[in-house]
Amino acid sequence: MADGPASFWTQANALLRKNLTFQKRNLRTNIRLIAFPVVLCLLLVMLQAVVNSLLKDNDCGCQCVERTANGKCAKEECGLQYSTADQAGSCSFPNPPEWPPLLQVPAPQYRAVSTDFYSSVDLPNESCRKSGSCPVTFLFTGNNHSFADSLVGSMIPNSFSLNSSDILESLADDVLGSASWPGYVNYQETAFSPEYPLYYVQSKCPANSSLSIAISVGSTEEQKGLNLWRNSSSEINDELYKGYRKGNAEKKINEIVAAFDFLNSNQNNFNVTIWYNSTYKNDTGNQPLSLLRIPRSVNMASSAFLQYLMGPTTKMLFEFVKEMPKPETRVRLDFASLLGGLFYTWVILQLFPVILKSVVYEKQQNLRIMMKMHGLGDGPYLMISYAYFLLISAVYMICFVVFGSLIGLKFFTLNDYSIQAVFYFIYINLQISVAFLAAAFFSNVKTATVVGYILVFGSGLLGGFLFQPFVEDESFPRNWLIVMELYPGFSLYRGLYEFSQYAFQGDYMGDHGMRWKDLSDSTNGMKEILIIMLAEWIVVLLVALYVDQVLSPGSGITKSPLFFLKTFKKKTSSFQNPSLGRQESKVFVEMDKEDVAQEREKVEQLLLEPNTSHAIVCDNLKKVYPGKDGNPEKFAVKGLSLALPRGECFGMLGPNGAGKTSFISMMIGLTKPTSGIAFVEGLDIRTQMDRIYTSMGVCPQHDLLWETLTGREHLLFYGRLKNLKGPALTQAVEESLKSVNLFNGGVGDKQAGKYSGGMKRRLSVAISLIGDPKVVYMDEPSTGLDPASRNNLWNVVKHAKQNRAIILTTHSMEEAEVLCDRLGIFVDGSFQCIGNPKELKGRYGGSYVFTMTTSASNEEDVVNLVKNLSPSANKIYQISGTLKFELPKNEVRIADVFHAVENAKSRFTVQAWGLADTTLEDVFIRVARGAQAFNVLP
Ligand SMILES: *[C@@H]1O[C@H](CO)[C@@H](O)[C@H](O)[C@H]1NC(C)=O
Ligand SMILES: *[C@@H]1O[C@H](CO)[C@@H](O)[C@H](O)[C@H]1NC(C)=O
Ligand SMILES: *[C@@H]1O[C@H](CO)[C@@H](O)[C@H](O)[C@H]1NC(C)=O
Ligand SMILES: *[C@@H]1O[C@H](CO)[C@@H](O)[C@H](O)[C@H]1NC(C)=O
Ligand SMILES: *[C@@H]1O[C@H](CO)[C@@H](O)[C@H](O)[C@H]1NC(C)=O
Ligand SMILES: *[C@@H]1O[C@H](CO)[C@@H](O)[C@H](O)[C@H]1NC(C)=O
Repeated sequence: MADGPASFWTQANALLRKNLTFQKRNLRTNIRLIAFPVVLCLLLVMLQAVVNSLLKDNDCGCQCVERTANGKCAKEECGLQYSTADQAGSCSFPNPPEWPPLLQVPAPQYRAVSTDFYSSVDLPNESCRKSGSCPVTFLFTGNNHSFADSLVGSMIPNSFSLNSSDILESLADDVLGSASWPGYVNYQETAFSPEYPLYYVQSKCPANSSLSIAISVGSTEEQKGLNLWRNSSSEINDELYKGYRKGNAEKKINEIVAAFDFLNSNQNNFNVTIWYNSTYKNDTGNQPLSLLRIPRSVNMASSAFLQYLMGPTTKMLFEFVKEMPKPETRVRLDFASLLGGLFYTWVILQLFPVILKSVVYEKQQNLRIMMKMHGLGDGPYLMISYAYFLLISAVYMICFVVFGSLIGLKFFTLNDYSIQAVFYFIYINLQISVAFLAAAFFSNVKTATVVGYILVFGSGLLGGFLFQPFVEDESFPRNWLIVMELYPGFSLYRGLYEFSQYAFQGDYMGDHGMRWKDLSDSTNGMKEILIIMLAEWIVVLLVALYVDQVLSPGSGITKSPLFFLKTFKKKTSSFQNPSLGRQESKVFVEMDKEDVAQEREKVEQLLLEPNTSHAIVCDNLKKVYPGKDGNPEKFAVKGLSLALPRGECFGMLGPNGAGKTSFISMMIGLTKPTSGIAFVEGLDIRTQMDRIYTSMGVCPQHDLLWETLTGREHLLFYGRLKNLKGPALTQAVEESLKSVNLFNGGVGDKQAGKYSGGMKRRLSVAISLIGDPKVVYMDEPSTGLDPASRNNLWNVVKHAKQNRAIILTTHSMEEAEVLCDRLGIFVDGSFQCIGNPKELKGRYGGSYVFTMTTSASNEEDVVNLVKNLSPSANKIYQISGTLKFELPKNEVRIADVFHAVENAKSRFTVQAWGLADTTLEDVFIRVARGAQAFNVLP
């Protein structure tokens, strides 16, 4: 037995269990959901493994220097000397080598010559390219030709000098150059690898010259340096432009080493511009520009100027270039972190459509109204739904992070877990709030799901290809970034992007990722993101709750947009209504039919002397819908009074639109009465609805069921809402299943989606009866049932009405006659008559219906026969030999009719005939028609 209304926690518990079962049932969706991040993580790990194995060759090389007898390595040594050129960069350099400064000299086949394309008198003939003896060209210009000439004259030495006891210093007197490409860093100079000759430039070149020097250099070649005067810098520009090497058109190439513009330089003033070819750097990604071979040309010019001023013995030596010392580094590229931003955004956003779908489903199927009618308050519903989605999201995120950490993704392991936890926690809360808000605008699960997934993939891609470039672009205004981050998809992306950047850098530097103190970094957007998301979460949640109350039809009563002001408004309205209601009631009393008036008196009596035998007492209930768009107010229910003792089944008959549904909606608390009052089991429907719900059952017109839950699970859920617990609950569910014939053959354990229409209807009735409610409302319980199922259902209702009051609306007169103890015919918002079926028939059905079928030629005979029986008989219809008449009861005796028919049979052929008492249907039609005719008149 249910004792008292279900507490908040009981309701919450019931809902939670229902949700968990629901979740369990959606196994395939769940597997897909969990599989997505797992697959993505594995994919990332695999990619990372491939990248790592590719990069492994780039670590500083090692070699086995000592082997044991059985061939195993006993001692391994690592370092520069065991490394290839690629590996050298990651070796340790406590004391980097010193390299002589070099010039970038074009390879012989590219050096400037006089060609058809660019013919110049002072450039050598093209034939030198074949022999490889083309000179290297320097161009120069300036305001004072003779001055520039004297500078350039001392820039290139006349001969090669090498003092083997101090190689570096003596090389500083010479101009060395190489055609090799410089590296990014100068731990190794590519020019000194054997495959490149080292050029040594001098003003005159001995024929066939090639010499070896004692440093680790493959070969050296002496090259003639050619200094050519040009009249202006624009001429130099022109020449450089034309010499640009494009594609494979080698003939058109004319590369020079450098060009000097001495501008307005003179004895007192040194002002020089130097052209160099900056293409000679290997520029990939964000590696710094390597211009290692520029300083030597600057030194050449300044040294020449110094010599011009101070005499030829003065020297400004540029001895060597040397890199910074560095420890051994490992070449690592946390590829997974770089790609992570996009992938993880997808993984986390995945939850959004899932939540949205689930919220919209309950709305689309009207399940939320159903739950509310069985006592589930908005508070527990919203709280448990929220908590439930939070739980699912949290479990999902924990699985994701734990799995990612276990397989070693740096994204998770390097960043501080507490920052990650805070970030994910705030985000999933924001996501749930947004889903709740979005759900208010969808009424169809399919649309919601499609839109949800479009958002997931759209946000990820837009984040990666639109938003991220903005984040990386320092010149993009930060305020606009913040505006973009107001969109939760972007704030998520930004957060994950920051994590991945920190993880990437941490891994590269062999350091950790993001720590709390890093939040104050000027480029770290994490702090803004956390603040934005937190604020947004709170705002969106409040708006979502507000919209849920105002807009969404899901919660039954939709409140006015200013519902929170109603405490203020209430005072005035409750002050006016009673007097207004009383005046109106007098008007109606005068028009009431006798039985309706009796019922009204009974109600007034009951209100004066409260009596526990009556389950439902309605006193002058009214419902007025306010006029909209200029239409007048609509009186849906105009003063309804009704007293229903326990154990009675009351049938409400009425044409469509008569106000039956409005009445039921008021009784089950979906709308509030405009005036009047009703008591259910002594509880006021205006104020004590929450307690009424625990002793109330509703069987709505359309089955409101969860497709994936079984019949038993439905009953368990609603039983719990009715505060049934433990063995009492199990027993009630068993009995309930048995009573509606869903117990045998395990039908109760099949999913409701697989039920036939009749089974669903029976389940709905069982739901309305579970928990032994004192009052049950059934809205057309047998619509759409085959006769066998209908009989089955009737038995259930008949059995159930023993100790409770049932209000039943139906369009089936047969059903009303079988089930109901009393009937009320409800037309245009008020009862036209109330009484048991027999009384009503007696009162309104004052005639018999006489039918006879004969051949077409004898129709006249039949009409005469009836006229004789009853002069005021009324022909209802006549179709090809079948005639139907209404005979007033006070004019005919049944025996006379039989006699007349016997006589007639001897005169002509009577194929069939019949005499019927009025049916309830006739009564209904007459009452309804009469009432409507009356109401049309003012
Ligand atoms: C150009 O330079 C020479 C020295 O090389 C100097 O004698 C002469 O005056 C300069 N001419 C001008 C116009 O400055
Ligand atoms: C070579 O260098 C050493 C040491 O700097 C010096 O003593 C010697 O004179 C130099 N020899 C020549 C030929 O310049
Ligand atoms: C630089 O790029 C050139 C041409 O792309 C290539 O031949 C050379 O090996 C590269 N050098 C380095 C040090 O990366
Ligand atoms: C440069 O100037 C000199 C004299 O001012 C002139 O003879 C010569 O033709 C000019 N060269 C070019 C390429 O214009
Ligand atoms: C600069 O160097 C690049 C690379 O070798 C070459 O293709 C280009 O032609 C050079 N430009 C000039 C003006 O020498
Ligand atoms: C150097 O030359 C440039 C270009 O002609 C000029 O703008 C600048 O003022 C000169 N600087 C000095 C110190 O003469």
